[in-house]
Amino acid sequence: MPEALLAERPVPASAAPLLSVDDLEGWYGESHVLHGVGFDVKPGEVVTLLGRNGAGKTTTLRAIIGILGRRRGSVTVKGVEAIAMPSRLIARLGVGYVPEERGIFASLTVAENLTLPPQVKPGGLTLKQIYELFPNLEERAGSQGTKLSGGEQQMLAIGRILRTGAKLLLLDEPTEGLAPVIVEQIGRTLRMLKTEGFTILLVEQNFRFAQTVADRHVVIEQGRVIDTIPNADLDANLGKLKTYLGV
Ligand SMILES: Nc1ncnc2c1ncn2[C@@H]1O[C@H](COP(=O)(O)OP(=O)(O)OP(=O)(O)O)[C@@H](O)[C@H]1O
Ligand SMILES: [Mg+2]
Repeated sequence: MPEALLAERPVPASAAPLLSVDDLEGWYGESHVLHGVGFDVKPGEVVTLLGRNGAGKTTTLRAIIGILGRRRGSVTVKGVEAIAMPSRLIARLGVGYVPEERGIFASLTVAENLTLPPQVKPGGLTLKQIYELFPNLEERAGSQGTKLSGGEQQMLAIGRILRTGAKLLLLDEPTEGLAPVIVEQIGRTLRMLKTEGFTILLVEQNFRFAQTVADRHVVIEQGRVIDTIPNADLDANLGKLKTYLGV
């Protein structure tokens, strides 16, 4: 593990939330999509947002990072109210976002993609540390974004935000469409990031994967939080969860 990461340890679960979302509403034009979403994420926690297609998971991430046209309510990061901030200032609170489509620049190389986003906080990983974490990326450093497999693109997208110094990571379905062996690798990466003190809010459809990485699961339906299930209770709540997810 890169040494610089080892300096930062998880804080106790009794700590104040790193991210607090309260009564969050959001719109696409006239379409009212989020209807009072609320949940907390403590430092060092991995929390998933689970829910059916169209439930509002992606929109919740977009509202948190400030790229939704219209939102209302409260989003605090380390106690700082961010609801009225532009997205670049929210990023500077130490929030990194990996969208579902990953946002890799096809015409740029892996190395160019990695160095593109501005650093938002000191203490981000160096290129060398990112390559230690994802050796595949080093092998592909000179390859264009288009030449990467889905798994390599996902690793590039995650590596890229680690470089910015963000410590709160918002990840939208990082395992979508990936082969099981790559999904396992992403799982190992997320667990390692957690032990290094990163805080992760993860959107997932695959609750079996979510179970291998998360502390808690927040279930969203029609733009509202309808349940929260601690990971330890997931198996006992499987019937209920499958009904929520329609699987
Ligand atoms: N750009 C958009 N313009 C208008 N409506 C949108 C837009 N994006 C999403 N929506 C609508 O907002 C609602 C929530 O969508 P969202 O993408 O947040 O769902 P999701 O939970 O991420 O679903 P999925 O699992 O399919 O990714 C859905 O009804 C969707 O149709
Ligand atoms: Mg989505």
